[in-house]
Amino acid sequence: MSTQTPSEKPWTGRFTEPTDAFVEAFTASVDFDKRMYRQDIRGSIAHATMLAEVGVLTVAERDAIIGGLGQIEGEIERGEFAWSIRLEDVHMNIEKRLTDLIGDAGKKLHTGRSRNDQVATDVRLYLRDECDLIQAELTRLQGNLVDLAEREADTIMPGFTHLQTAQPITFGHHLLAWNAMLERDTERLVDCRKRIDVMPLGSAALAGTTYPIDRSITARELGFARISENSLDGVSDRDFAIEFTAFASLLLMHLSRFSEELILWTSSQFAFVDISDAFCTGSSIMPQKKNPDVPELVRGKSGRVVGHLISLITLMKGQPLAYNKDNQEDKEPLFDTIDTVKGCLKVYADMLGYRELADGGRKYHVEPRRETMREAARRGFSTATDLADYLVRKGVAFRDAHEIVGKAVALGVATQRDLAEMGLEELQQFSGAIGSDVFEVLTLEGSVAARDHLGGTAPNQVRAAAARARARLGQGG
Ligand code: ARG
Repeated sequence: MSTQTPSEKPWTGRFTEPTDAFVEAFTASVDFDKRMYRQDIRGSIAHATMLAEVGVLTVAERDAIIGGLGQIEGEIERGEFAWSIRLEDVHMNIEKRLTDLIGDAGKKLHTGRSRNDQVATDVRLYLRDECDLIQAELTRLQGNLVDLAEREADTIMPGFTHLQTAQPITFGHHLLAWNAMLERDTERLVDCRKRIDVMPLGSAALAGTTYPIDRSITARELGFARISENSLDGVSDRDFAIEFTAFASLLLMHLSRFSEELILWTSSQFAFVDISDAFCTGSSIMPQKKNPDVPELVRGKSGRVVGHLISLITLMKGQPLAYNKDNQEDKEPLFDTIDTVKGCLKVYADMLGYRELADGGRKYHVEPRRETMREAARRGFSTATDLADYLVRKGVAFRDAHEIVGKAVALGVATQRDLAEMGLEELQQFSGAIGSDVFEVLTLEGSVAARDHLGGTAPNQVRAAAARARARLGQGG
């Protein structure tokens, strides 16, 4: 950070003493808001373009401003720009440098504008761009999930309730449940982007401005879909940032749940899936360990994003209209939310993908252990409901059927056998309604195939659901 004299600040006219050194550092935001320099420059170019069109600036002044801002952007990108905390924030740093570069025309840029509408515009531009990057990454993750689901449409695993084996399902069906959550997250993102895409520029400090501004010009230059209709609300609203962190919290909550399952499934107790070495790490003391760090970290990072949501809501709840300096505190939670979401989505999209092998084949990073899954479904009496449904079809009332099957399960527990491993006569001692056709319903394949309706786990339903999900992603089959 370079040292500037206090008089270089643009607002010192009514001040007689310099700012306290600690206060200067305490009130500055440049360390974190400089990441919006592109949006700040873009917004200033649009503002200058508009001021020239309505006759507040000359064309020569506008061109000098745009040229100077272009040069500043280059300096920042090459790491040559001297940021100063004495100039408080990204806005004043850039404006001061512009005036140094082009002289008096630079001093006219802030005509009809305030940092209050400037910062609100910058944050919206920044977040709007990030929403598009995040949506693309969500789509990549969903595409990989749907591919894997289709490939695993016939793979049998135990489905759980209360984390106890419940009924057999297909692994593809389970993966599509994850995808269903991500589809809703994408909808939320797309929806909140609509309210981000509203331009507050022109609200000025809080009341609008006396200059003959034309906000439709700046909105067109910046590609905003709408223009804010109340200047007080324009400079003070941060709902859009809260909505985004709410979207992010739900997304991370979902990724945290996937993570929890992957962590359980990679344990030797479950051993349902293998995750590639590239996405795991080892232990410095226990040589046998291969830890699912990626899912664990994603599960952990969900906490900070939920924390940012709470921070932003709390930040806003006591604020009177219009702009208050409190709002400077919106940036760090918002930026960290963006970074965390992007990191988690990237690592998940990569982890659910594959690596090309030398022979042209693919090595998927998350591979199911199909035999182990199947064996777990077989051992857990997962077809007990199917036996009860069979008895109902033979005329037994469901409650009686439930009781009969419960007794058969108790025998299985005592003798360590699944229902399908018992003989016909053995089963018939529980109910005379049981015939030799019972074994068809006791198989795992028969059980999943029978759940053949929209939303059910039957393999052909999973394939159809995967095709619909892919079409919704805009990806052909
Ligand atoms: N750095 C400030 C922020 O992030 C910019 C707006 C400052 N406005 C003001 N009136 N002090 O909110």
